[in-house]
Amino acid sequence: MDDSDYAIVVENLTRTFSSHHNGNPKKVAVDGISFTVKKGEIYGILGPNGAGKTTTIKMLSTLLIPTSGKATILGLDVTDEKNVRTLRNRINVVSGGERGLYYRLSGRQNLEFFADLYNIPKKKQKKLIDDLLELVELTDAADIKTENYSRGMKQRIHIAHALINDPEILYLDEPTIGLDPEISKEIRSLIRKLSDGGKTIILTTHYMFEAEELCNHMIIMSGGKIVGKGNVTDIKNSISNSSSIRVVTEREPVFAIESIRTQMNADSKVTKLLNGRFVTKFTIPIEYNDLSMYENIFRQYNIKNIGVEEITLEDAYLALVGDGEE
Ligand SMILES: Nc1ncnc2c1ncn2[C@@H]1O[C@H](COP(=O)(O)OP(=O)(O)OP(=O)(O)O)[C@@H](O)[C@H]1O
Ligand SMILES: [Mg+2]
Repeated sequence: MDDSDYAIVVENLTRTFSSHHNGNPKKVAVDGISFTVKKGEIYGILGPNGAGKTTTIKMLSTLLIPTSGKATILGLDVTDEKNVRTLRNRINVVSGGERGLYYRLSGRQNLEFFADLYNIPKKKQKKLIDDLLELVELTDAADIKTENYSRGMKQRIHIAHALINDPEILYLDEPTIGLDPEISKEIRSLIRKLSDGGKTIILTTHYMFEAEELCNHMIIMSGGKIVGKGNVTDIKNSISNSSSIRVVTEREPVFAIESIRTQMNADSKVTKLLNGRFVTKFTIPIEYNDLSMYENIFRQYNIKNIGVEEITLEDAYLALVGDGEE
């Protein structure tokens, strides 16, 4: 593959922070990660809190200097000071949270302010901003103060901001966090639309279904390291020497969970159903997928149903992330 097909090439990228918590002078937030992103992809960065996702996004968007390693964005080395300005004109970032909006200004006025910051000539601004408002479906709300916007509308105006310089790469750091399912769905379809329009998108998320729905390829990070890489199938296959078991019981299987955890080192997830039944799911090495063994372990909780399930991205994620959760 030609080098110019890559939007991003990351090699051994590392970032440490000095901190003095727990008598530990250095925190390795990102620990020697390597991956490549092709132009036009939606690339996912998944991982639990503290995995290093935001730190990675910051390094790849020139907001944070790597401690070591290399990242080449659109063919330009991020660690080379003289590339920073060029890169900032060709990429943009939407980070979670609600900072960066002037609440007393309307959506349109906010966009005009950002267009000025990018030195976009006034006579070009009108059409650009109208087009962006239409793209994010805020044309009707353009002249309302953003303080009166719903959270979904705020997120859409944030995305419009980040599009003001028509970036080739758009970094989205948890774009749907805290949004209700319906609004999240709208944001996802907007992300899909941007991708269809040719943008390369790097997306961090905690939501497996979001990654499964949007991302062509992804990395799973834990404790600053990459623990999984590839498309959804690759990631599922990377733990395919495992099986996922699902047991429905009438009582909460407290000791059974403890026993599979200590014997098989398997993390389980229990959900309570409305009618008072408990569903326990866990992933175990394939050589342990003998159901009669689990029938014995769970018998005392009155088994209603037991079976082997197909691995989901979430199963794979939980298995790969393991104890990485902070
Ligand atoms: N400026 C900083 N100074 C010290 N430690 C930091 C700093 N920024 C991040 N860290 C630490 O680096 C680690 C990775 O943080 P980062 O924000 O990249 O994680 P994340 O994957 O984005 O997590 P989340 O899902 O919570 O957003 C964490 O342990 C965090 O406490
Ligand atoms: Mg983060």
